[in-house]
Amino acid sequence: MNDPRIIVALDFPGAEQTLAFIAKLDPALCRVKVGKELFTAAGPQVVEKIMGKGFEIFLDLKFHDIPNTVVNACKTAAALGVWMINVHALGGKRMLLAAREAVPVGTVRLIAVTLLTSMERSDLNEIGLHEDPQQVVQRLALLAGDCGLDGVVSSALEVPELRQIMGKNFCLVTPGIRPIDVSVDEQKRITTPRQAIENGSDYLVIGRPITRARDPLSMLQRLNEEIEG
Ligand code: C5P
Repeated sequence: MNDPRIIVALDFPGAEQTLAFIAKLDPALCRVKVGKELFTAAGPQVVEKIMGKGFEIFLDLKFHDIPNTVVNACKTAAALGVWMINVHALGGKRMLLAAREAVPVGTVRLIAVTLLTSMERSDLNEIGLHEDPQQVVQRLALLAGDCGLDGVVSSALEVPELRQIMGKNFCLVTPGIRPIDVSVDEQKRITTPRQAIENGSDYLVIGRPITRARDPLSMLQRLNEEIEG
């Protein structure tokens, strides 16, 4: 498989557990995501070690700062050789344009977080945003697209509308994925892998259903088959 759709979230507290876990996976069947917890604990060294095992990495550090700082952070992240990085769309147009300039199209993929899916309408009201979360998500996705970003992170439930608005070349990355027979944990707005792909997702971020599976590789194979079937 040249372009695996599953991105396994490596939400581990350190390098040792992470490397022991990825030894059970196959880089031909998935990509992996390194987030704030693992990166804060184990830094660029663990990123390099994971890449050394053949895995492509989505470095999920969600940069959100003044344009100059985000430019340098994006350049530094891109120089690690990762596959994808991200910023917060709420950083605004100047920050997004600056990030795009720092990471030219066709090099590392640059996507934006629209709204965190943990934010409900009442949370938005508290920070002075008096719209439905869905409207805010669409507005921020359009802004990210206008600034030349490659895509956004969103719930798979928002994907059908985003796909329609943003067109077929905009990359939609969706967490909150649960196979029917696996614990939903604290995720609320979930879909199955198959449903997410049918909705129009390009890449699925899946953590615990794979990291906590008794046999992570066969779970990964099963989920890939579900997606392709
Ligand atoms: O274990 P689980 O499949 O719930 O992991 C989902 C991953 O996606 C976690 O790394 C989580 O931080 C991330 N994520 C999410 N919801 C978002 C954005 C990111 O679950 N809106």
